[in-house]
Amino acid sequence: MTRESTTDSDSTTTDPTSESLIETSPSAGLDDDPDETPVADTIVEAKNINVWYNDDQALQDISLAVPEQRVTAMIGPSGCGKSTFLRCINRMNDLIDAARVEGKLSLRGKNVYDDDVDPVALRRRVGMVFQKPNPFPKSIYDNVAYGLEIQDVEGDHDAIVEESLKRAALWDEVKDQLDESGLNLSGGQQQRLCIARAIAPDPEVILMDEPASALDPVATSKIEDLIDDLAEEYTVIIVTHNMQQAARISDKTAVFLTGGELVEFDDTEKVFQNPESDRVEDYITGKFG
Ligand SMILES: Nc1ncnc2c1ncn2[C@@H]1O[C@H](COP(=O)(O)OP(=O)(O)OP(=O)(O)O)[C@@H](O)[C@H]1O
Ligand SMILES: [Mg+2]
Repeated sequence: MTRESTTDSDSTTTDPTSESLIETSPSAGLDDDPDETPVADTIVEAKNINVWYNDDQALQDISLAVPEQRVTAMIGPSGCGKSTFLRCINRMNDLIDAARVEGKLSLRGKNVYDDDVDPVALRRRVGMVFQKPNPFPKSIYDNVAYGLEIQDVEGDHDAIVEESLKRAALWDEVKDQLDESGLNLSGGQQQRLCIARAIAPDPEVILMDEPASALDPVATSKIEDLIDDLAEEYTVIIVTHNMQQAARISDKTAVFLTGGELVEFDDTEKVFQNPESDRVEDYITGKFG
């Protein structure tokens, strides 16, 4: 995917500084020289992230900078730590007793592991969609409104639910059955419902862990189109096993390899057409993994 290399001026429509969910440090607005039009600001930055599960190290010294309002793909063989890395970003690893995270993970310059960061507030800013669609056994409406209630989001919930379903490209299919159970939808519809649920609280970053791997090709293609649309407004970080999918939908690609190492991180085109590392070339050409 190619994109104009200027920052969208309406990236301020969801002004993060208006939210006091995470206190902003003086250095948080890094690089904002008004005369410069940077390629894309960094929104998420990992510096020397190491993760262990008990004594087993799952990620080794990961450093990378994710650009705002772009799609960043994470690829690599099973067990190389992609999901672990994704969970570092919204502190979902906090919920795993065995997990220990070291290093710095910043959202707009603020380390999300600082003591003054509330993980629940963080997860409002960094939403997540999982591999297996996981709607709650509730109505379609309540599934989308759930995050609004949990997070005490103010405003007209009916309007937000409608808007979120529209953005998730599901509204037309469900607008006459909002009171019916989300579990009665097809797998692809359920996943779009989960995406609507994730975007309803208006996050800045959406993490997706293999969101289409349980879906058929038609549903997959809808999700891919949707991801492309979402990146107009949000930053999307997606784990996928599907190399073609990463090449089709992402601007940046991070390649993790066994042992929890980040071996390459670059523009997607570069990674797929001319990778620096032989190990990455072997991986993407299917020689292993
Ligand atoms: N909850 C956990 N407890 C203990 N070890 C874990 C846990 N979750 C992951 N691991 C281990 O950490 C390593 C990285 O796992 P992770 O799930 O992040 O890999 P992945 O790249 O997402 O793999 P996959 O492509 O199969 O989803 C693996 O060795 C895994 O066994
Ligand atoms: Mg995984």
